[in-house]
Amino acid sequence: MPPPPDLPAGPSPTDWRRGLRMPLVEAMETQRAVRRLRPDPVDDDLVLELCRLAQKAPSGGNRQLVEFLVVRDPATKHQLARLNRQAWALYKRLAGAQARGDLRMARILAAVQWQADHFEDVPVVVVVCQRGRPWPGPLGRLSWYGSVFPAVQNLLLAARAVGLGATLTTLPLWSRTLARRTLNLPRTVTPCAVIPLGWPLRGGYGPTTRRPPAEVVHLDVWGRHPAPSDGAEER
Ligand SMILES: Cc1cc2nc3c(=O)[nH]c(=O)nc-3n(C[C@H](O)[C@H](O)[C@H](O)COP(=O)(O)O)c2cc1C
Repeated sequence: MPPPPDLPAGPSPTDWRRGLRMPLVEAMETQRAVRRLRPDPVDDDLVLELCRLAQKAPSGGNRQLVEFLVVRDPATKHQLARLNRQAWALYKRLAGAQARGDLRMARILAAVQWQADHFEDVPVVVVVCQRGRPWPGPLGRLSWYGSVFPAVQNLLLAARAVGLGATLTTLPLWSRTLARRTLNLPRTVTPCAVIPLGWPLRGGYGPTTRRPPAEVVHLDVWGRHPAPSDGAEER
């Protein structure tokens, strides 16, 4: 269905397919949470392509238990928005107290608030699910959850490449029971991540702020860091 005349359409399939060719390093260096999204429609084929690329990620034993629920239904989005707001109401009090005087954190919290206020208007939400329940034992849990997030990151990188705003969220999943009920999922399926997708309202993607390698890399011995170098430093 064509978009209503008052809403600009997103890029054409030719343009977003070209976008997917973005150099990997550029995508990795500029992939960040984009929470302020326009309600403009997002092409079904594009969402399917993002899921296909996500599904290329590794999984424990190559079991490939990750599946994607693409939500466009307004009533379901409304319920997800409610769940998100419930968790956010609690979280923002904790995070807000910690962020006092920290401008960068205050900016993030403002964006999360914006997302909470406009969740229903997001054109499409992808819920990344996994068949089954976390496997028992520390190694089981590690492998089970560890099989979901490579796919999530692939999806985020692909969204970044085409310029489609996306954020990895888990707040809407604070209650697995309520999330399953909202999404009409069988008990044999576990929702693990919720990714609102839409064309950015503002500038969208750009450089991220991350700790530099000289701080987070340890050479053979924990605490022995590489020397800082201009090329390897956070930009
Ligand atoms: C496991 C996980 C859960 C997250 N849950 C949420 C969430 O519920 N809501 C949200 O707005 N962002 C969520 N985020 C996004 C982080 O807040 C974001 O990646 C981080 O602040 C870095 O921001 P940047 O990517 O914009 O640099 C989550 C990220 C991860 C890895």
